[in-house]
Amino acid sequence: MRYNVTIQETLAKTVQVEADSLKDVESAVGQLYRNSDIVLSGDDYVSTEIVANKCQPYYKSPNNNFTLIQGDCVDTLSKFKFGFDMVFADPPYFLSSGGISCQSGQVVCVDKGDWDKPTSTEEMDAFNLRWLKACREHMKENATIWISGTHHNIFSVQQQLIKLGFKILNVITWAKTNPPPNISCRYFTYSTEFIIWARKSAKVAHYFNYELMKELNGNKQMTDVWQLPAIGKWEKSCGKHPTQKPLGVLARLIQASTQPNAWILDPFSGSATTGIAANLLGRRYLGLEMEEEFLSMSKARREELENQAIRNDYLARLEKAKIIMPSALRLIADDSEIDFGVPWL
Ligand SMILES: C[S@@+](CC[C@H](N)C(=O)[O-])C[C@H]1O[C@@H](n2cnc3c(N)ncnc32)[C@H](O)[C@@H]1O
Repeated sequence: MRYNVTIQETLAKTVQVEADSLKDVESAVGQLYRNSDIVLSGDDYVSTEIVANKCQPYYKSPNNNFTLIQGDCVDTLSKFKFGFDMVFADPPYFLSSGGISCQSGQVVCVDKGDWDKPTSTEEMDAFNLRWLKACREHMKENATIWISGTHHNIFSVQQQLIKLGFKILNVITWAKTNPPPNISCRYFTYSTEFIIWARKSAKVAHYFNYELMKELNGNKQMTDVWQLPAIGKWEKSCGKHPTQKPLGVLARLIQASTQPNAWILDPFSGSATTGIAANLLGRRYLGLEMEEEFLSMSKARREELENQAIRNDYLARLEKAKIIMPSALRLIADDSEIDFGVPWL
């Protein structure tokens, strides 16, 4: 990667260095000084600050509350430092093994993409450890992380969380109210996914909007079994992602664990459902994704929200499904006027 580095001192030199990470930029610039490529005398030296272009965004929303960066999530995260308030991750489940499933009444082969092909237990553990560690380093001390999965990956994720020192708070069972039928008739119909909720530190308290969850549940404590539908057609207005999550699931967990204006990270952004739910609820978002096709879909989804009628329609649907409170009672930040800084650019 090529970094433009401006060294701010009275000589105001700009140099270019090749480096893989910000740390390497610092040592490359130090080397330049040592090699006397930049000669500073006591008189012209005031202070030195390195300003580097850390990451190129694929897309930034006009008010900077939604950023997408293309690339491997661990690699991207190694390039900047920032503490997020919450992370949602929908990582590869490693279940695209060529089995069959039913989609819109059609028998289809389970093939979500190369990134979802099964791998060895050791490789899966190493992969989960790597990205969870990278996310942990980008979480505030009181931040929490949500990770979705099925039996294929979720036990591996749970073990890596423990290894890294996370404290597991809940394991949500998302019981789909409209699961596709089981074609083989040799098993119970698959109708659930799991979402682990964990906090970074055993010692630092996390945020949980208990009262709101209770209110949304008819004034009864909300349980860890969420009866919510699978993705609806209305959520696919900008194209299809093979494993797109419903806005309802994301809107619920975002409200449960963050306050308005919070910064949310999704390392496996896909079609950016997390970002769309975040922005609908007045939270800020960074999504990391490898595939251009999905980034372009995400950009289109975010651009839709510039249309107030579409934004209102999505909010009305979430309200009807009792995922969010009626508008008069909703606590949502007004992001229309604010130009948020983007700390990683
Ligand atoms: C399960 S999907 C996420 C779907 C998303 N929750 C949504 O609602 O659209 C996982 C996504 O992660 C991407 N991906 C896989 N490995 C990745 C990596 N190492 N870094 C960044 N993205 C990755 C895939 O391209 C895929 O779009």
